Amino acid sequence: MRQFTLTNTEQTSDDKKKQVLLQKAGEIPMHIAIIMDGNGRWAKSKGSIRIHGHKVGVDSVKDITESCAQLGVKYLTLYAFSTENWGRPSKEIKGLMRLLVSSLRKEARNLNKNNIKLDTIGQMERFPKQCQHELQEAMELTSDNDRLELCLALSYSGRWDITEAVKRIARHVKEGRLDPELINDQMIGDHLSTAEIPDPDLIIRTSGEYRISNFLLWQLAYSELYITKTYWPDFRRDELYEAIQSYQKRDRRFGKIPAQKDEKATSSV
Ligand code: FPP
Repeated sequence: MRQFTLTNTEQTSDDKKKQVLLQKAGEIPMHIAIIMDGNGRWAKSKGSIRIHGHKVGVDSVKDITESCAQLGVKYLTLYAFSTENWGRPSKEIKGLMRLLVSSLRKEARNLNKNNIKLDTIGQMERFPKQCQHELQEAMELTSDNDRLELCLALSYSGRWDITEAVKRIARHVKEGRLDPELINDQMIGDHLSTAEIPDPDLIIRTSGEYRISNFLLWQLAYSELYITKTYWPDFRRDELYEAIQSYQKRDRRFGKIPAQKDEKATSSV
């Protein structure tokens, strides 16, 4: 059977071996979230303009998405445009929007062939109509796919997400449909934009900054962190494998003691 790929290159036998070894070595994270940072600095280091960094960053998106699908990761959430990014120069914002539209046009069918479902979280209504249209089309085309869910966080911030969840819950209280005493972790999670997907197991941040930058603030409570100095355009599958290897060595206790660690935490420190 013809093997489809996002990167348009056949998978090498060496890469296949690396993936099999990783799968045998331990658990593959079900959900990986990534703060893709350093595109601008990467471009500067090459004497180029910022948008060039974003363009090469799209190649990293393709390589990481493809390798996650091959490995059996089920959810990949990428921080592609934060609420705070609206404060960037309009030229850069327009360039990013154009890149998003052209990438979706080029890749939507390819995502579909690879059985990858595209989704988004964030304030899509703030995006230009053409962007919204391309995203909608790609999401509809891929809606039945179940190999990997690629979720783009666009005009997203963790505080916005929590604020919207609080508003929705407050409306239920106001309408007399909910006793405030019944509000708990589970209910808040169920009102976030990520209600349908599990919390990230692993969060990767590129470019060496030690910050969460208003990403999935609620959802990252027990995620394992992997921070690398590598700029996003240089972050490719071999370093993803290193991040997963590091994850496989972690002792995830969810606030409990080692003997209890297989019991899932509800509220713990
Ligand atoms: C951070 O680097 C990156 C972004 C704000 C945008 C990420 C976008 C892409 C990789 C391309 C479009 C994505 C998709 C999914 C098609 P930065 O600009 O903050 O870099 P700097 O910190 O070095 O200035």
